[in-house]
Amino acid sequence: VPVSPFSLIIFGGAGDLSRRKLFPTLFNAFSSGEFPQTFSIAAYGRQELDDGQFRSLVRQSIEEECPDHRADDLDSFLSRLYFLYGHFEKAEGYDRLATLIESFPDAEQLLYYLAVPEASYETIINQIAASSLPTEAGRVKIIIEKPFGKDLSGARRLNILVASAFREEQIFRMDHYLGKETVQNISFFRFANGIFEPIWNRNGIDSVQITVGEDIGIGHRGGFYERTGAIRDIFQNHLLQLLALVAMEPPTDFHAERVRDEKIKVLRSLRPVSVDEVADCSVVGQYAAGSIAGKKVPGYREEDRVDSASVVPTFFAAKVYIDSWRWAGVPFYLRTGKRFPVKGTEIILQFKQPPLKLFRDDCNPLEPSFLRIVIQPEEMIDLHIGVKYPEAANMLYPVDLRFSYRETFGTRAIPPYRRLILDAMRGDASLFVRQDDVEASWSFTDPFVSYWESRDSIPFYPAGTWGPGEAHDLIEREGRHWIEPLGV
Ligand code: BG6
Repeated sequence: VPVSPFSLIIFGGAGDLSRRKLFPTLFNAFSSGEFPQTFSIAAYGRQELDDGQFRSLVRQSIEEECPDHRADDLDSFLSRLYFLYGHFEKAEGYDRLATLIESFPDAEQLLYYLAVPEASYETIINQIAASSLPTEAGRVKIIIEKPFGKDLSGARRLNILVASAFREEQIFRMDHYLGKETVQNISFFRFANGIFEPIWNRNGIDSVQITVGEDIGIGHRGGFYERTGAIRDIFQNHLLQLLALVAMEPPTDFHAERVRDEKIKVLRSLRPVSVDEVADCSVVGQYAAGSIAGKKVPGYREEDRVDSASVVPTFFAAKVYIDSWRWAGVPFYLRTGKRFPVKGTEIILQFKQPPLKLFRDDCNPLEPSFLRIVIQPEEMIDLHIGVKYPEAANMLYPVDLRFSYRETFGTRAIPPYRRLILDAMRGDASLFVRQDDVEASWSFTDPFVSYWESRDSIPFYPAGTWGPGEAHDLIEREGRHWIEPLGV
């Protein structure tokens, strides 16, 4: 579906996220011919810039991020960019913005994109609603980055506020994990192949592991992270979204609402964990100084804009259950961490062991067979099984049957931001988070945040390891162990 002519207004458009991610992404979509002839992009922000200075900043980011760009493409893209200086809390700037939009060539749609810290969402939405800026359904949309709210009550307040100015079909709540190619492939893999669904349940699956791991530390985002921490930053959104896709029932079709109806059922079936139970089924940790790939890196407390006595978690692991017919009794082990030895986001479905052990696995200690869905850094799916070792009469050897996106299709997948922004422009909300979804995931997450935030100490793990020892106890006391991401 082609994208119709648009005007895009980016609040916080000169900020770090916009410059590093958003503009290079928009430029890539433009230079691959996915934009219509007519479009205009205005950034609104607190920096005192004029159009020329803003275009130079964006030029610099694009030159760094997209070294293979064509110079005439870049000039043409930059000529559609505008900057408006203004405060988020001052009405006067929004009226100037309305006048600027009126001067743009006629567009069939107008999109607002909130690329600002979560704390500014309410102010901006209130101001848009109170100003002369258009909000009418059918033409206007709003894209809101995660985290959507800081907790359940914050998310509810925000939902009520956005709903006072926009209808649900105008609202696109972004979780960029949903735009990742292999994340979408989970549904194709499950529902387009008859062989997996019959065992994709408590009869065939022993347990599920989902890891969202990063080798990077907190870098220059210390201020943001001190208010957020791993539970809010990754668990409430990316991890629970992955869990919902792995665990959901087949939708009746792939229409946005049908898929979202199935995901919400999973989130509502999560067995609630009360504050008193949190310590029994979850673990936090914070990275201390260590080394990654042979390079020394500082601990979290030594990072810029981080309290030197901070107890904010950079690691979180939890064991959760889905009380549904399909998943009754199957543990889901979820974990996320910064400063792991490698970057790797993976889903492991560990199959049940055969009822009888007929073969020796003592020479090559054999893991139970499992399916590994690798979301990044490469996109792959591995079926990990045991085969007969050559010549040995009765010995097993572990091997992987592999699908590699890059080897099969010869390219890397489309970056998630590009996919999602284009989807929003086309009005397709399948890969965005619905109001009830965001509230259900906060409702499940809140007790974890409350419990761990009330503690005044935290276990450490050296940078370059897979989290604190407690995380291993969480799974090993049940006779299982974490299967580490491949990181390739
Ligand atoms: C963001 C988090 O949502 O996801 C970051 O705020 C994290 O802390 C990032 O680094 C990870 O995204 P990706 O796509 O690199 O796995």
